[in-house]
Amino acid sequence: MTTGTRWPVVLRVEDGLEPQIVLRPLTRRDRRAWVELRSHNAFWLRPWDATRPDGSAPRVRFQEFVRTLNADARAGRSRPFAIEVDGRLVGSLTLSSIIYGALRSASVGYWLAHAATGRGTMTRSIARLLDYAFEDLGLHRVEICVRPENTASLAVVARLGLRAEGRRERFLHIDGQWRDHLAFAVTAEERGSTRMADRVLRAPRDHGEQTSTSAEV
Ligand SMILES: CC(C)(COP(=O)(O)OP(=O)(O)OC[C@H]1O[C@@H](n2cnc3c(N)ncnc32)[C@H](O)[C@@H]1OP(=O)(O)O)[C@@H](O)C(=O)NCCC(=O)NCCS
Repeated sequence: MTTGTRWPVVLRVEDGLEPQIVLRPLTRRDRRAWVELRSHNAFWLRPWDATRPDGSAPRVRFQEFVRTLNADARAGRSRPFAIEVDGRLVGSLTLSSIIYGALRSASVGYWLAHAATGRGTMTRSIARLLDYAFEDLGLHRVEICVRPENTASLAVVARLGLRAEGRRERFLHIDGQWRDHLAFAVTAEERGSTRMADRVLRAPRDHGEQTSTSAEV
């Protein structure tokens, strides 16, 4: 177990499912793919993207953006991963607000390009990230906060089996306003020694007629 200063880190999602997912740091070479992905998905992501309470929207050059991500990661404050599916950049998954001491806690934030949704990609990616957070970083608790309107993201936390902790009033500045969020968490005790990936694959679906199989998430 480390205290989280090793960076860069690459996490392969090894759950026996297709397609192949790799969580890896963003690099300068991703500039074109990243800019295209963000601009094609601007409308899709706007309701869920964080904004600045003072209304400013500074334009940050991509190289500077990557430098800041890496500096934060090396300082142990975050783990910012790009999500690659079958070799293509499709989104981002970040473990942020990492705090050690008596708290040993962090938060998860994520987004996918619209074209990459609905195939279990984010559920599988977060399961891998949570295993890394508990096993490699030695964290004790990880939380995910979701707007009540975000049906897709609520389905992801349900699929992961996270525990609901209640409502946080005006918690985050999203899409131009302070927005309420629902908090979900998992502790090291709740996870136990079973990998999140295995828990997700074994968990029954709580909607429709289907039950989960080893062939799908
Ligand atoms: C939320 C988001 C990451 C989900 O990613 P995804 O890869 O499509 O999610 P998954 O395929 O892993 O889906 C997990 C569960 O959610 C369900 N789901 C996915 N999209 C859904 C939708 N639009 N409505 C309802 N349920 C949905 C899936 O059916 C699955 O449930 P099941 O396994 O019980 O069938 C994606 O929609 C996204 O990037 N949205 C915009 C940004 C965002 O909301 N970020 C999160 C902010 S908290």
